[in-house]
Amino acid sequence: MASERLGMAALTWMALCLAAAFAVDRSNFKTCEQSSFCKRQRSVKPGSSPYRALLESLQLSQDSMKLQLVNEVNKVPLLLELYGLQGNMTRIKINELSPLRPRYEVPDVLVRDPPTTWLAVMGRDENSVELSLGDSGHKLILTGKPFRMDLLQGRELVLSINPRGLLHFEHLRHRKDSEEPKESALEGGAAGEETEPAVPGEQESSEKSTKSEEVSDEPDRAEEELGSWEETFKTHTDSKPNGPTSVGLDFSLPGFEHVYGIPEHADNLRLRTTEGGDPYRLYNLDVFQYELYNPMALYGSVPLLLAHNTQRTLGIFWLNAAETWVDISSNTAGKTLFGKMLDYMQGGGETPQTDVRWMSESGIIDVFLLLGPAPTDVFRQYTALTGTQALPPLFAVAYHQSRWNYNDEEDVAAVDDGFDTNDIPYDVIWLDIEHTDGKRYFTWDPNKFPQPRNMLGRLAAKRRKMVSIVDPHIKVDSGYRVHNEIRSRGFYVKTKDGSDYEGWCWPGSSGYPDFTNPEMRAWWASMFSYDQYEASMENLYIWNDMNEPSVFNGPEVTMYKDALHQGGWEHRDLHNLYGFYVQMATAQGLEQRSGGLERPFVLSRAFFAGSQRYGAVWTGDNAAEWDHMKISIPMCLSLALTGISFCGADVGGFFKSPDAELLVRWYQVGAYQPFYRTHAHLDTVRREPWLFGEENKALIRAAIRQRYALLPYWYTTFYHSYRSGQPVMRPLWVEYPDDVTTFSIDDQFLIGNALLVHPVTEQGAHGVQVYLPGKGQVWYDVHSHQKHHAPQTLYVPVILSSIPVYQRGGSIVPRKERVRRSSDCMYRDPYTLYVALSPQGTAEGELFIDDGHTYNFESKAQYLHRHFSFASNTLTARSADSKGIFESPAWIERVVILGAGKPAAVFLRQPGMAETRLDFQHEPETSVLTLRKPGVNIGADWSISLR
Ligand SMILES: *[C@@H]1O[C@H](CO)[C@@H](O)[C@H](O)[C@H]1NC(C)=O
Repeated sequence: MASERLGMAALTWMALCLAAAFAVDRSNFKTCEQSSFCKRQRSVKPGSSPYRALLESLQLSQDSMKLQLVNEVNKVPLLLELYGLQGNMTRIKINELSPLRPRYEVPDVLVRDPPTTWLAVMGRDENSVELSLGDSGHKLILTGKPFRMDLLQGRELVLSINPRGLLHFEHLRHRKDSEEPKESALEGGAAGEETEPAVPGEQESSEKSTKSEEVSDEPDRAEEELGSWEETFKTHTDSKPNGPTSVGLDFSLPGFEHVYGIPEHADNLRLRTTEGGDPYRLYNLDVFQYELYNPMALYGSVPLLLAHNTQRTLGIFWLNAAETWVDISSNTAGKTLFGKMLDYMQGGGETPQTDVRWMSESGIIDVFLLLGPAPTDVFRQYTALTGTQALPPLFAVAYHQSRWNYNDEEDVAAVDDGFDTNDIPYDVIWLDIEHTDGKRYFTWDPNKFPQPRNMLGRLAAKRRKMVSIVDPHIKVDSGYRVHNEIRSRGFYVKTKDGSDYEGWCWPGSSGYPDFTNPEMRAWWASMFSYDQYEASMENLYIWNDMNEPSVFNGPEVTMYKDALHQGGWEHRDLHNLYGFYVQMATAQGLEQRSGGLERPFVLSRAFFAGSQRYGAVWTGDNAAEWDHMKISIPMCLSLALTGISFCGADVGGFFKSPDAELLVRWYQVGAYQPFYRTHAHLDTVRREPWLFGEENKALIRAAIRQRYALLPYWYTTFYHSYRSGQPVMRPLWVEYPDDVTTFSIDDQFLIGNALLVHPVTEQGAHGVQVYLPGKGQVWYDVHSHQKHHAPQTLYVPVILSSIPVYQRGGSIVPRKERVRRSSDCMYRDPYTLYVALSPQGTAEGELFIDDGHTYNFESKAQYLHRHFSFASNTLTARSADSKGIFESPAWIERVVILGAGKPAAVFLRQPGMAETRLDFQHEPETSVLTLRKPGVNIGADWSISLR
């Protein structure tokens, strides 16, 4: 939900949110020009960097290098740390050598201290040092004056750091006009990182050591003028007790013209240059009626940028949770390179190049360079740092029915029955904020939901689930136990003056629990135990909305930046982490209520790097418009590239009411996106699938059934993502990295590596242009089984029932084709294998099966991971991972081979048994061979030969 409620319209601050037309009210949100640090950072122009690396201060240990940098204007020393990490990664940290107070370093996002590799100095002269970074063949040339770093592989320049001299590190300082140095709120509380001692010069240098130099506390006049110590936006004043604290750094990427990532923005997959406009903004915000195709911030942030060309993919992961802006410009390599570096250039000075500049309001510079070289390597590298996608419970990958609101228990029962009456499968019904007693989360409205346990039990009997909303704003009400406990334990976020921070949200005046506090998170998690959350049952799961956090009367609809968290950290330092922690604590609660046995399902609107470990996200409050449906594809692809695979958009659009055509098309799009949920605003007309006439109902039913038939493939692909970090939904270039045609495509995508989807996203469409990639490959239309050669752009005529989906020749996709009322009801159902032959007559595929809901697959290896391959006219089933042991009651009822000739006979062979003949049917026009009733258990080893 966005910050709009009719009942609150009278409240003056809500007037801010009620834009007259359907469009974001841009004036509610800052431009770079209105964000003083962004403006200050951007006012630093390319040129010779004022920073000098003091090469004589270099200290090398086995796995790291430390070195001082000094700003030659203000003489403030910085400490640069460089780590070679295993698996072709490099980490660079820049902090003040001795800050007045500790600066925030992002906790809890990295899953471990990344393992390091060796570093060695390979050479040095008076102004540079050459380092070798482990066994990867990468080296780094560090130039002293002006400071820059160039990362090479062999003689190839991969990327440069500070090449345009935009490093700008605002050191902590005392306010000039204050009589005494201000006492810091951090004093005594902050996580006590030890301050590095000054690094002594290695040689008896004639250079002055930094220590002897006068550190100037003279703030730039420009900084004083630009809101360094106080900043007002609209009616809100940010007190900025710590003054200017921003950090910025630039990178150049020679040879790269395509960059991606840094979600969340409602924009194309390929990032555009930001020259002449605002940078992409990363600041988790509740944006009412967001606009498309612009760099404005949205609900979540992942500060990972990917660059791709035909030779290499790389990533820049900027680990900073403060408000961040990213500028992207295109350039020509060579212009910015020193003559000295030209030796390392490939070719002349005309290499296209992308320049990237990161600017964050506080914290330190902590950046990971993910050097690929393949897309799969970058995904592996990034998820080694931040974790892979949690394996969802199977039901969560099925279809979800939501609206704001299902009004009462009768309404829930009627909708639930409606799916059965209309023979449409669904797994989960959702309850939005109105189910609570006056927006008090963890409670039920006593009139509308008097018997929640009965309701949940009724759903459980049909093997269905429910999701209820639990938001992180807590009604300030002395009669509300949750509020009283949080307050008495001191768990609320505090104002700068130390009182409990209160903002306005759905319940009225609300407190915001400090989710950055591990004790608070542990308490929050305990609230989900069955005895704490009244009437909750095993089939009740959770949705965290409004966790940017949304504060209706706060600056930019969020929390004051000078609000204080545990340890005395300002909200400014960690804003983008708040939602991550809410989802983390909630997921831990669901896990704990089952004694750690059951996998949680939690949907979150806000997110940060690493949120993939805790559940699903969706693209927030979109609208029932064709463009909003279309943009859901690049929005989820961007998230997938940055680790968060479990993504979807509200099917049908949240605001406004879709007509039947848009609704049908959106069901078709959603059926092929990882998280499949319909949702709608309170003021929209009802839109359950059967309310649009028989014909549309049948079309929606068909789309949802396609989803259910493919659940084995979705689940297997999620398992692969969990294991290896590869995205579930993929841009084409990930699988076809040297096909330039794919680099800007974002109206079609792949699921895993076997299915290519080009949903219809144009109103009144008669056809779509589908690009089929892969030189010498073939693709099969999954509906007609027609074969197409690649690469080609295929014009595909469409009607209202069409969802253009293609299976790659060379792949095997498992399906379950019996129609049931929910995914749980399909547990024992037999499989059909779709074997799509490559031009060489081969194919491969996998299937993962477990109980679908516990951690036993991890803790007890209770799973089946099967591998299927077709070669030399023989289809073979064997284990892909012999560690897994699990008994499935399911068997194989059919094998459909696409692109096959007609055999004389077909034989099934199982170890220790006599060969048996199988019935088959061959269609010569489509070359489809269907083998009937192999009847083998899905866990068995067998082979089928065509003779
Ligand atoms: C590291 O990079 C090199 C060169 O690009 C590549 O050959 C090697 O496979 C990579 N290693 C890993 C572990 O990704």
